[in-house]
Amino acid sequence: MTQTASRKILITSALPYANGPIHLGHLVEYIQTDIWSRFQKMRGNECYYVCADDAHGTPIMLRAQAEGIAPEELIARVSEEHQRDFAGFNIAFDHYHSTHSPENRHFASYIYEQLKAKGHISRKTITQFYDPEKQMFLPDRFIKGTCPKCKAEDQYGDNCEVCGATYSPTELLNPKSAVSGATPVEKETDHLFFELDHFGDMLKEWTHKGHLQTQIANKLDEWFESGLRGWDISRDAPYFGFEIPGEQDKFFYVWLDAPVGYMASFKALCDKTGINFDDFWKQGSDAELYHFIGKDIIYFHALFWPAMLSGADFRTPDAIFAHGFLTVDGQKMSKSRGTFIMAKTYLDHLNSEYLRYYFATKLNSRIDDLDLNIEDFVQRVNSDLVGKVVNIASRCAGFVVKKFNGKLADDFSDNAKSLYQSFVAESEMIASLYEKREYGQAMREIMALADRANEYIDETAPWVLAKQEGKEAELHESVSVGINLFRVLLTYLAPVLPETAEKALGFLQLNTLDWNAIESPLMGHTIQKFQPLMTRVEMDAVEKMIEDSKQSMPAAQPQATAPAAANADIDPIAPEITFDDFAKLDFRIAKIVNAEAVPEADKLLKLTLDIGLEQRQVFAGIKSAYQPEELVGKLTVMVANLAPRKMRFGMSEGMVLAAGPGGKDLFILNPDEGAQPGMRVK
Ligand code: MSP
Ligand code: ZN
Repeated sequence: MTQTASRKILITSALPYANGPIHLGHLVEYIQTDIWSRFQKMRGNECYYVCADDAHGTPIMLRAQAEGIAPEELIARVSEEHQRDFAGFNIAFDHYHSTHSPENRHFASYIYEQLKAKGHISRKTITQFYDPEKQMFLPDRFIKGTCPKCKAEDQYGDNCEVCGATYSPTELLNPKSAVSGATPVEKETDHLFFELDHFGDMLKEWTHKGHLQTQIANKLDEWFESGLRGWDISRDAPYFGFEIPGEQDKFFYVWLDAPVGYMASFKALCDKTGINFDDFWKQGSDAELYHFIGKDIIYFHALFWPAMLSGADFRTPDAIFAHGFLTVDGQKMSKSRGTFIMAKTYLDHLNSEYLRYYFATKLNSRIDDLDLNIEDFVQRVNSDLVGKVVNIASRCAGFVVKKFNGKLADDFSDNAKSLYQSFVAESEMIASLYEKREYGQAMREIMALADRANEYIDETAPWVLAKQEGKEAELHESVSVGINLFRVLLTYLAPVLPETAEKALGFLQLNTLDWNAIESPLMGHTIQKFQPLMTRVEMDAVEKMIEDSKQSMPAAQPQATAPAAANADIDPIAPEITFDDFAKLDFRIAKIVNAEAVPEADKLLKLTLDIGLEQRQVFAGIKSAYQPEELVGKLTVMVANLAPRKMRFGMSEGMVLAAGPGGKDLFILNPDEGAQPGMRVK
């Protein structure tokens, strides 16, 4: 077994936004990184894994406003929730920080000032949409309007979800602020730009020197071809972020200080423990630096970030490891299907080890999306972990404890020794698969070993030996070898299954599951009574989790929705109802037999409706569209089973439906031969 000198390694995962809960998609990344970090530590490397909440930006500012709290309060609460969820999945950060921290302010300002001093920052006047009501400049995502290309309504300011067109917000037809509903105006403002093209040569070289996955390096070539443009790094007040030194009312764009958060978190760890920060970040450092990210944020990590670091004389990352996106049962996670599963909801029903293992079987070094197939998940976990791995220990431990007082055999036969050695011989191969992030392949190799261990137990048949005279020695060897093989397997699986590994340590009476400790088998060693290490996944629990996910409303996702969007023309969609909810509504054709104004209310008309079986009195807010006398004799549709409501002017016994843009145009049906009062509308 090769014993390489200990490496110094710093690992990060992308920093989750501080305005939404952790969901299973996020966990692909944190689990992938955590496995790598645990693996490096088991190999004896000096390895640190840091992360933080990404706390700045407009969505977080608006979300806090919508909740009526200070942004600091929001991010403190979310940080706690995030850390609770991560702990639930045994994501073992060495430190978890926030980008809204003194360390981050320091490094963001420092890097900016270095870039500025070296002439990499320029100032340009740009025209941007401004919300005159809310008095703020609007990010593209907070402007909605009609797509200039396909005319689909209610599209974001940067691209159309219907036809896929990309455009600038000023090209949108009928633009509206998603924050206030006001029509935005174009306004000039000075912004600061990071001149990325100054780093064109450096980046072209860097992106092709093995720091990136091939798929990504090729993708970036397309960007180089279309030319590197200056990156807008400033935002005007009001903004939740850091003020830019030397400027008034200008803030760093959230993506400027977000990756700096990696440094800030590590700095806080250094201050806590005495690690030398410069050893990891100064140019020419011999420490290794790796960023795990999702494929959606490659641009920031593979272009801007290395350029910023190199412009400020810091070292650049050794590699950016990007992964694909999670789908569930082959489709994008969806709330209505119950597949938009929060970390918390999962933990309410299932063991985190299941998901860690399942993701491991699906992960590799490429950026393809990965699918969580619910049936496959249940089947794989039960057959591999419970059926193969844990089973080895449960088949052997009882005999060791009952027949041999918990003591493993003092020596093995040559055959048994060579079987054990054949398991240990796979160690470097499995390690190299972990190192290359080919976890799926690693899991397949480990399960092949588990199959071999079970075959050995089948062949030696301890339950048969136990009933035969004079077979003690054979029995002792069989079950002792079984326990030893189990220990090797658990060592190989420990980066993926930390909780099970921890329990196994207790049962095996060991202090560590170090990678190299398996070189010598446990002989004459005493173990504890076996406790079930893991139970089967029950489909029932999975179904309950999905049911729960349909109920729990995920909080607004970062860029996607403007919190408290009170658009004047377009109301946000109300909370989803089920088909059963819908089917409860009894719509009836109603004939308006009388209509009169309500003097005290300027919008209301008092209607008397004939629904065939009976007459109803309903107050309807349609005075702006109709004179009472025009309505008499016309037909409308009413909800006939709405609970009567006492209003200031009398009882309202139902609800009239009228459609249209409002104002003068609210449509009520003219009678025709087909419709009769009382008919049910379906
Ligand atoms: N705040 C930024 C990252 C800043 S890093 C300096 C961000 N946050 S995020 O909360 O949207 O995402 C955090 C990480 O989770 C990203 O790497 C993202 O790609 C990943 N994922 C978010 N949803 C995901 C899936 N559905 N599937 C897989 N990964 C996903 O981006
Ligand atoms: Zn379109």
